[in-house]
Amino acid sequence: MLILAPMQGLTELMFRKAYHQCFPGAFDYAVSPFLSLTHGNLADAWKKIDDVLPQDNQDSLPVIPQILGKEPLEFVGLANRLYEIGYSEVNWNIGCPMRRVTAKHRGSGILPYPNEIRSILEQVVPRLQPRLSIKMRLGLNSPQEIFAIIPILNDYPLANVTIHPRTGRQQYGGQVDLDTFEEVLPLLRHPVVYNGDICTAADYRRLRQRFPQIADYMIGRGVLYDPLLPMRIRTADENGENDLAQTEHFIRTLLNAIDEGDVREVSKMRKIKEYWCLIRRSLPITEQQASTVLHAQDYGSTIACIHNILETVNEL
Ligand SMILES: Cc1cc2nc3c(=O)[nH]c(=O)nc-3n(C[C@H](O)[C@H](O)[C@H](O)COP(=O)(O)O)c2cc1C
Repeated sequence: MLILAPMQGLTELMFRKAYHQCFPGAFDYAVSPFLSLTHGNLADAWKKIDDVLPQDNQDSLPVIPQILGKEPLEFVGLANRLYEIGYSEVNWNIGCPMRRVTAKHRGSGILPYPNEIRSILEQVVPRLQPRLSIKMRLGLNSPQEIFAIIPILNDYPLANVTIHPRTGRQQYGGQVDLDTFEEVLPLLRHPVVYNGDICTAADYRRLRQRFPQIADYMIGRGVLYDPLLPMRIRTADENGENDLAQTEHFIRTLLNAIDEGDVREVSKMRKIKEYWCLIRRSLPITEQQASTVLHAQDYGSTIACIHNILETVNEL
Protein backbone atom coordinates (compact mmCIF):
# COMPACT_ATOMS: atom_id res chain seq x y z
CA MET A 1 0.00 0.00 0.00
CA LEU A 2 0.99 3.61 -0.51
CA ILE A 3 0.19 5.94 2.35
CA LEU A 4 0.25 9.74 2.40
CA ALA A 5 2.40 10.93 5.32
CA PRO A 6 1.07 13.39 7.86
CA MET A 7 2.61 16.83 7.34
CA GLN A 8 1.39 19.55 9.64
CA GLY A 9 0.46 22.64 7.63
CA LEU A 10 0.62 20.73 4.33
CA THR A 11 -1.49 17.56 4.21
CA GLU A 12 -4.60 18.83 5.94
CA LEU A 13 -8.05 18.11 4.53
CA MET A 14 -7.89 20.84 1.88
CA PHE A 15 -4.77 19.29 0.36
CA ARG A 16 -6.03 15.73 0.69
CA LYS A 17 -9.28 16.65 -1.07
CA ALA A 18 -7.55 18.53 -3.91
CA TYR A 19 -5.12 15.65 -4.33
CA HIS A 20 -7.83 13.02 -4.30
CA GLN A 21 -9.86 15.00 -6.83
CA CYS A 22 -6.91 15.09 -9.27
CA PHE A 23 -5.40 11.69 -8.54
CA PRO A 24 -8.07 9.33 -7.17
CA GLY A 25 -6.64 6.05 -6.02
CA ALA A 26 -3.03 7.26 -6.00
CA PHE A 27 -2.73 6.69 -2.26
CA ASP A 28 -4.54 3.97 -0.35
CA TYR A 29 -5.01 6.23 2.65
CA ALA A 30 -3.50 9.11 4.60
CA VAL A 31 -2.47 9.58 8.21
CA SER A 32 -3.65 13.00 9.38
CA PRO A 33 -1.33 15.68 10.72
CA PHE A 34 -1.32 15.29 14.49
CA LEU A 35 -4.11 16.34 16.82
CA SER A 36 -2.15 17.62 19.78
CA LEU A 37 -2.70 16.86 23.44
CA THR A 38 0.26 19.11 24.18
CA HIS A 39 -1.51 20.90 26.98
CA GLY A 40 -2.89 17.67 28.25
CA ASN A 41 -6.46 18.51 27.44
CA LEU A 42 -8.94 17.37 24.87
CA ALA A 43 -10.18 20.84 24.01
CA ASP A 44 -6.89 21.65 22.31
CA ALA A 45 -6.98 18.60 20.08
CA TRP A 46 -10.70 18.99 19.44
CA LYS A 47 -10.05 22.44 17.90
CA LYS A 48 -8.49 20.69 14.94
CA ILE A 49 -11.06 17.95 14.73
CA ASP A 50 -12.51 19.51 11.56
CA ASP A 51 -9.59 18.00 9.70
CA VAL A 52 -10.87 14.50 10.32
CA LEU A 53 -14.64 14.89 10.60
CA PRO A 54 -15.96 11.95 8.56
CA GLN A 55 -18.69 13.95 6.82
CA ASP A 56 -16.08 16.41 5.49
CA ASN A 57 -13.70 13.63 4.50
CA GLN A 58 -16.15 11.82 2.26
CA ASP A 59 -14.79 13.10 -1.06
CA SER A 60 -11.22 12.72 0.05
CA LEU A 61 -8.58 10.16 0.85
CA PRO A 62 -9.51 7.75 3.64
CA VAL A 63 -7.72 9.05 6.72
CA ILE A 64 -6.42 7.71 10.02
CA PRO A 65 -6.30 10.39 12.71
CA GLN A 66 -2.97 10.88 14.45
CA ILE A 67 -2.54 11.89 18.08
CA LEU A 68 0.49 13.59 19.64
CA GLY A 69 0.64 13.45 23.41
CA LYS A 70 1.49 11.26 26.36
CA GLU A 71 -1.31 11.71 28.87
CA PRO A 72 -2.97 8.28 28.96
CA LEU A 73 -6.42 9.44 30.07
CA GLU A 74 -6.64 12.21 27.50
CA PHE A 75 -5.25 9.92 24.83
CA VAL A 76 -7.94 7.34 25.55
CA GLY A 77 -10.61 10.06 25.71
CA LEU A 78 -9.68 11.48 22.31
CA ALA A 79 -9.12 8.10 20.66
CA ASN A 80 -12.46 6.76 21.88
CA ARG A 81 -14.28 9.88 20.68
CA LEU A 82 -12.65 9.39 17.29
CA TYR A 83 -13.88 5.80 17.41
CA GLU A 84 -17.39 7.01 18.17
CA ILE A 85 -17.41 9.28 15.11
CA GLY A 86 -16.29 6.40 12.92
CA TYR A 87 -12.55 5.74 13.16
CA SER A 88 -11.50 2.16 13.76
CA GLU A 89 -7.81 3.09 14.05
CA VAL A 90 -5.79 5.94 15.53
CA ASN A 91 -2.08 6.58 15.13
CA TRP A 92 0.26 7.60 17.97
CA ASN A 93 2.99 10.04 16.99
CA ILE A 94 6.27 9.25 18.76
CA GLY A 95 8.43 10.68 16.01
CA CYS A 96 7.89 14.45 16.04
CA PRO A 97 11.34 16.12 16.27
CA MET A 98 10.33 19.68 17.22
CA ARG A 99 12.28 20.77 20.27
CA ARG A 100 9.33 22.29 22.10
CA VAL A 101 7.63 18.90 21.73
CA THR A 102 10.60 16.64 22.53
CA ALA A 103 11.58 18.72 25.59
CA LYS A 104 8.43 17.42 27.27
CA HIS A 105 9.08 13.76 26.35
CA ARG A 106 6.51 13.97 23.59
CA GLY A 107 6.94 12.94 19.97
CA SER A 108 10.45 11.53 19.49
CA GLY A 109 11.31 13.01 22.91
CA ILE A 110 9.89 9.88 24.53
CA LEU A 111 12.13 7.47 22.62
CA PRO A 112 15.04 7.53 25.13
CA TYR A 113 12.54 6.55 27.87
CA PRO A 114 11.22 3.07 27.08
CA ASN A 115 9.67 2.75 30.54
CA GLU A 116 7.48 5.76 29.84
CA ILE A 117 6.38 4.17 26.57
CA ARG A 118 5.51 0.95 28.41
CA SER A 119 3.61 2.79 31.09
CA ILE A 120 1.54 4.71 28.53
CA LEU A 121 0.74 1.60 26.47
CA GLU A 122 -0.08 -0.29 29.65
CA GLN A 123 -2.66 2.32 30.61
CA VAL A 124 -3.97 3.13 27.14
CA VAL A 125 -4.26 -0.14 25.26
CA PRO A 126 -6.78 -1.95 27.50
CA ARG A 127 -9.11 1.08 27.45
CA LEU A 128 -8.86 1.82 23.74
CA GLN A 129 -11.78 1.14 21.41
CA PRO A 130 -10.01 1.76 18.08
CA ARG A 131 -6.94 -0.16 16.98
CA LEU A 132 -3.63 1.56 17.62
CA SER A 133 -0.79 2.10 15.16
CA ILE A 134 2.44 3.95 15.85
CA LYS A 135 4.62 6.30 13.81
CA MET A 136 8.15 6.67 15.13
CA ARG A 137 11.81 7.33 14.44
CA LEU A 138 14.80 5.18 15.39
CA GLY A 139 15.49 7.32 18.41
CA LEU A 140 15.85 10.86 19.66
CA ASN A 141 19.62 11.07 20.10
CA SER A 142 20.79 7.70 18.80
CA PRO A 143 19.39 5.18 16.31
CA GLN A 144 20.14 2.48 18.89
CA GLU A 145 17.34 3.68 21.15
CA ILE A 146 14.76 1.71 19.19
CA PHE A 147 16.24 -1.63 20.32
CA ALA A 148 15.03 -1.06 23.90
CA ILE A 149 11.58 -0.12 22.59
CA ILE A 150 10.96 -3.10 20.29
CA PRO A 151 10.28 -5.66 23.06
CA ILE A 152 7.75 -3.25 24.56
CA LEU A 153 5.93 -2.73 21.27
CA ASN A 154 5.92 -6.50 20.80
CA ASP A 155 3.97 -6.89 24.04
CA TYR A 156 0.95 -4.96 22.71
CA PRO A 157 -1.46 -5.44 19.84
CA LEU A 158 -0.64 -2.83 17.20
CA ALA A 159 -2.07 -2.40 13.70
CA ASN A 160 1.36 -1.46 12.38
CA VAL A 161 4.49 0.53 13.15
CA THR A 162 5.68 3.18 10.71
CA ILE A 163 9.40 3.82 10.98
CA HIS A 164 11.13 6.91 9.63
CA PRO A 165 14.73 5.75 10.03
CA ARG A 166 16.25 8.97 11.30
CA THR A 167 16.75 10.27 14.83
CA GLY A 168 14.77 13.21 16.15
CA ARG A 169 18.00 15.21 16.35
CA GLN A 170 18.45 14.79 12.61
CA GLN A 171 15.11 16.50 12.02
CA TYR A 172 14.57 15.99 8.26
CA GLY A 173 18.17 16.16 7.07
CA GLY A 174 21.13 13.80 6.86
CA GLN A 175 20.88 10.24 5.64
CA VAL A 176 18.15 7.76 6.46
CA ASP A 177 19.77 4.90 8.40
CA LEU A 178 18.76 1.88 6.35
CA ASP A 179 21.27 -0.43 8.05
CA THR A 180 19.73 0.05 11.48
CA PHE A 181 16.25 -0.17 9.94
CA GLU A 182 17.22 -3.53 8.45
CA GLU A 183 18.38 -4.79 11.86
CA VAL A 184 15.07 -3.75 13.41
CA LEU A 185 12.84 -5.59 10.93
CA PRO A 186 13.22 -9.18 12.09
CA LEU A 187 12.84 -8.13 15.73
CA LEU A 188 9.50 -6.38 15.45
CA ARG A 189 6.45 -8.65 15.34
CA HIS A 190 4.12 -6.01 13.88
CA PRO A 191 3.70 -5.07 10.21
CA VAL A 192 6.19 -2.31 9.43
CA VAL A 193 5.54 0.68 7.19
CA TYR A 194 8.65 2.29 5.72
CA ASN A 195 8.82 6.10 5.57
CA GLY A 196 11.56 8.52 4.53
CA ASP A 197 13.07 10.13 1.43
CA ILE A 198 11.01 8.39 -1.24
CA CYS A 199 11.28 11.12 -3.86
CA THR A 200 11.36 9.13 -7.10
CA ALA A 201 9.99 5.81 -8.34
CA ALA A 202 13.62 4.62 -8.42
CA ASP A 203 13.96 5.36 -4.67
CA TYR A 204 10.86 3.23 -4.09
CA ARG A 205 12.14 0.38 -6.24
CA ARG A 206 15.49 0.35 -4.44
CA LEU A 207 13.71 0.10 -1.10
CA ARG A 208 11.40 -2.67 -2.31
CA GLN A 209 14.37 -4.61 -3.57
CA ARG A 210 16.22 -4.28 -0.29
CA PHE A 211 13.14 -4.85 1.90
CA PRO A 212 10.87 -7.21 -0.06
CA GLN A 213 9.12 -8.17 3.19
CA ILE A 214 7.69 -4.65 3.52
CA ALA A 215 4.41 -4.11 1.72
CA ASP A 216 3.53 -0.61 2.87
CA TYR A 217 5.35 2.63 2.10
CA MET A 218 4.55 6.12 3.34
CA ILE A 219 5.41 9.17 1.26
CA GLY A 220 5.60 12.75 2.50
CA ARG A 221 7.65 15.47 0.84
CA GLY A 222 8.10 13.37 -2.30
CA VAL A 223 4.50 13.90 -3.34
CA LEU A 224 5.01 17.66 -3.28
CA TYR A 225 8.30 17.43 -5.15
CA ASP A 226 6.38 15.40 -7.74
CA PRO A 227 2.59 15.04 -7.36
CA LEU A 228 2.64 12.19 -9.89
CA LEU A 229 5.03 10.10 -7.80
CA PRO A 230 2.47 7.53 -6.56
CA MET A 231 1.32 6.98 -10.16
CA ARG A 232 4.86 6.52 -11.36
CA ILE A 233 5.35 3.96 -8.60
CA ARG A 234 2.13 2.14 -9.41
CA THR A 235 2.50 2.10 -13.18
CA ALA A 236 6.32 1.82 -13.32
CA ASP A 237 5.95 4.60 -15.88
CA GLU A 238 8.67 7.18 -15.23
CA ASN A 239 7.55 9.83 -17.68
CA GLY A 240 4.20 10.18 -19.40
CA GLU A 241 3.21 12.64 -22.09
CA ASN A 242 0.67 14.47 -19.96
CA ASP A 243 2.72 14.67 -16.80
CA LEU A 244 3.25 18.38 -16.86
CA ALA A 245 -0.39 19.08 -17.68
CA GLN A 246 -1.47 16.90 -14.74
CA THR A 247 0.97 18.57 -12.37
CA GLU A 248 -0.23 21.98 -13.46
CA HIS A 249 -3.84 20.96 -13.08
CA PHE A 250 -3.12 19.84 -9.55
CA ILE A 251 -1.32 23.07 -8.67
CA ARG A 252 -4.27 25.10 -9.99
CA THR A 253 -6.74 22.91 -8.07
CA LEU A 254 -4.73 23.42 -4.88
CA LEU A 255 -4.56 27.19 -5.44
CA ASN A 256 -8.33 27.29 -5.90
CA ALA A 257 -8.87 25.28 -2.74
CA ILE A 258 -6.64 27.66 -0.79
CA ASP A 259 -8.43 30.62 -2.33
CA GLU A 260 -11.80 29.32 -1.20
CA GLY A 261 -10.52 28.39 2.23
CA ASP A 262 -8.90 30.84 4.61
CA VAL A 263 -10.38 34.32 4.59
CA ARG A 264 -7.26 36.29 5.39
CA GLU A 265 -5.15 37.02 2.36
CA VAL A 266 -1.87 37.06 4.30
CA SER A 267 -2.57 33.56 5.61
CA LYS A 268 -3.43 32.36 2.12
CA MET A 269 -0.24 33.90 0.76
CA ARG A 270 1.84 32.28 3.49
CA LYS A 271 0.21 28.90 2.84
CA ILE A 272 0.79 29.12 -0.92
CA LYS A 273 4.44 30.03 -0.43
CA GLU A 274 4.87 27.05 1.92
CA TYR A 275 3.59 24.71 -0.76
CA TRP A 276 5.50 26.51 -3.46
CA CYS A 277 8.86 25.92 -1.72
CA LEU A 278 8.32 22.18 -2.30
CA ILE A 279 6.07 21.90 -5.34
CA ARG A 280 8.14 24.21 -7.56
CA ARG A 281 10.53 21.28 -7.89
CA SER A 282 7.90 19.52 -9.99
CA LEU A 283 8.13 22.18 -12.69
CA PRO A 284 10.91 22.68 -15.25
CA ILE A 285 11.79 26.19 -14.08
CA THR A 286 14.92 27.97 -12.90
CA GLU A 287 15.66 28.95 -9.30
CA GLN A 288 15.29 32.55 -10.36
CA GLN A 289 11.79 32.02 -11.77
CA ALA A 290 10.78 30.07 -8.70
CA SER A 291 12.01 32.78 -6.35
CA THR A 292 9.80 35.46 -7.94
CA VAL A 293 6.86 33.81 -6.20
CA LEU A 294 8.58 33.93 -2.83
CA HIS A 295 9.39 37.61 -3.32
CA ALA A 296 5.82 38.57 -4.22
CA GLN A 297 4.54 41.09 -1.69
CA ASP A 298 0.83 40.36 -1.59
CA TYR A 299 -1.67 37.60 -2.24
CA GLY A 300 -2.74 38.81 -5.68
CA SER A 301 0.79 39.05 -7.04
CA THR A 302 1.73 35.68 -5.53
CA ILE A 303 -1.12 34.01 -7.42
CA ALA A 304 -0.39 36.00 -10.59
CA CYS A 305 3.27 34.99 -10.45
CA ILE A 306 2.40 31.29 -10.21
CA HIS A 307 -0.15 31.49 -13.03
CA ASN A 308 2.46 33.27 -15.17
CA ILE A 309 4.95 30.52 -14.51
CA LEU A 310 2.38 27.84 -15.33
CA GLU A 311 1.58 29.61 -18.61
CA THR A 312 5.27 29.77 -19.56
CA VAL A 313 5.75 26.12 -18.68
CA ASN A 314 2.76 25.29 -20.85
CA GLU A 315 4.38 26.85 -23.86
CA LEU A 316 7.57 24.81 -23.49
C1 LIG B 1 6.29 20.23 7.36
C2 LIG B 1 6.24 18.85 7.95
C3 LIG B 1 5.25 18.55 8.87
C4 LIG B 1 5.17 17.25 9.43
N1 LIG B 1 4.15 16.96 10.30
C5 LIG B 1 4.04 15.69 10.80
C6 LIG B 1 2.95 15.30 11.64
O1 LIG B 1 2.01 16.05 11.90
N2 LIG B 1 2.95 14.01 12.10
C7 LIG B 1 3.95 13.12 11.80
O2 LIG B 1 3.90 11.96 12.25
N3 LIG B 1 4.97 13.45 10.99
C8 LIG B 1 5.03 14.70 10.48
N4 LIG B 1 6.04 15.00 9.62
C9 LIG B 1 6.99 13.94 9.22
C10 LIG B 1 6.51 13.23 7.93
O3 LIG B 1 5.29 12.54 8.17
C11 LIG B 1 7.57 12.20 7.46
O4 LIG B 1 7.79 11.30 8.51
C12 LIG B 1 8.89 12.85 7.09
O5 LIG B 1 8.68 14.01 6.31
C13 LIG B 1 9.78 11.87 6.32
O6 LIG B 1 9.12 11.38 5.17
P1 LIG B 1 9.39 12.00 3.70
O7 LIG B 1 10.87 11.96 3.48
O8 LIG B 1 8.62 11.11 2.78
O9 LIG B 1 8.90 13.42 3.72
C14 LIG B 1 6.13 16.29 9.06
C15 LIG B 1 7.12 16.60 8.12
C16 LIG B 1 7.18 17.85 7.55
C17 LIG B 1 8.26 18.15 6.54
